[in-house]
Amino acid sequence: MGETEAEHASLIDFYPYRDRYRSHRRLEPEPRDREEVLAELAEMAGEEDRIGERGRVSGSIYHGDHDHYRFLTRAFELFAHANVLQRDMYPSATKLEAEIVAMTASLLHAGPEVAGVITSGGTESLINPMLVYRERGRVERGITRPEVILPVTAHVALLKAAHLLGITPVRAPLRDDWLVDVDWVRDHVTPDTVALVGSAGNYPHGLVDPIEELSEIAQEHDLGLHVDGCLGGFILPWGERLGLPIPRFDFRVPGVTSISADTHKYGYALKGTSVLLYRDAGLRRYQYFNYPDWQGGIYLSPGLAGSRSGGLIAATWAAMVTLGERGYLEIADRIFRTAAAIADGVRAIPGLEVFGSPTFLVAFHSPEVDVFHVNDHLVACGWRLNALQRPPGLHFCVTRPNTAQGVAEAFLADLRAAVEYARSPARPEARSGALYGLGSMPGGGEVLETLLAAALDAMYEVAPTDARA
Ligand SMILES: Cc1ncc(COP(=O)(O)O)c(C=O)c1O
Repeated sequence: MGETEAEHASLIDFYPYRDRYRSHRRLEPEPRDREEVLAELAEMAGEEDRIGERGRVSGSIYHGDHDHYRFLTRAFELFAHANVLQRDMYPSATKLEAEIVAMTASLLHAGPEVAGVITSGGTESLINPMLVYRERGRVERGITRPEVILPVTAHVALLKAAHLLGITPVRAPLRDDWLVDVDWVRDHVTPDTVALVGSAGNYPHGLVDPIEELSEIAQEHDLGLHVDGCLGGFILPWGERLGLPIPRFDFRVPGVTSISADTHKYGYALKGTSVLLYRDAGLRRYQYFNYPDWQGGIYLSPGLAGSRSGGLIAATWAAMVTLGERGYLEIADRIFRTAAAIADGVRAIPGLEVFGSPTFLVAFHSPEVDVFHVNDHLVACGWRLNALQRPPGLHFCVTRPNTAQGVAEAFLADLRAAVEYARSPARPEARSGALYGLGSMPGGGEVLETLLAAALDAMYEVAPTDARA
């Protein structure tokens, strides 16, 4: 097995360390030595980072510079143990959170009435607004069977939100340009619709939905309009400043009532924070949970989380103020240029088609070959793209590590070879995307659900065979 194949194997093997380190099935009777523990962790981290550091990973590692991470970790360290709930002890949390919200609001052209919260990530920043629109519909309109209309490309966390909150998701198809079919959305507004969703940009294809058109519908029917800017919220504004044709998606669009933007993606903070903004504080109120009669005291909580670490807030704030406009702009410029080079290169490869007009994320599919065979070859060359379905495709979400000299060129050369490989692949069934194929077999959906659940179970298991146990 070559080095890249070994790395690929380590990506898909849940337990690569089973024979290397002791597995802990119970607390050690005696404390382990700190240095030994740190050395073990450093070894795992170092090896795992190598995969991302070659600049061959789509998304996931947005900044990638270890100096930056070391600095953020120092900021984290100062408040790691602090619980931001305890504002009497840690008033810094109020300053830092409010400033993160304010800086994000100004980037997204919010007015003075905007009200925000910090959440643990994109998923929580999508669950909360769905709760808000459900509650607003219930309180202001007596809606008991709420519906939310969202593009089929909207992030699946919104479906999770609908599942958790008892909302019916109404999934709108796409037009020929791969953006949500606004006419379809208009035709499917009912008296039970509480909100619409658009993405800026969406996860599968990185494209920005026609937010201005969705805004008109939202205003006409007095609906909420959430813009999922989890992925694009911290990069698209810089594209506009750089003169790229970025469609309007932020608070300048009058019908937009909330936007999520993840600091832990293109905000270049540590994993675990996102910003959620509402057009006004009245909307945010629907997110609050208060319980004055509890034996443990009067309870009030702004969101899903209880205790939260002040470390993440401090690190996020530190990332934002040390990058500043210039820092964000410089990185964004490199990312947009790299993505443009990749998009042009993909368009020039016979057999591939790019989805829509990309800006920072390039997604493509093939009317001629199985893109999962293409992916197999790319994986063997050490690339880690994201696989799409309906239709099958791949995406490359360009981040700072991908902007290094020569990465785009190397990718395009490997992609060209990958398409050739896919024209006469070594095996009939592609290794990548096999689950998707299974999912489309008769009865495959059920099998797939069982397999996916088993995979999640497996992620919580201590390595099953353990030479040292
Ligand atoms: C558009 C979009 N929304 C939401 C999410 C979910 O974010 P998280 O993984 O931080 O929960 C993602 C993740 O990639 C995304 O791309």
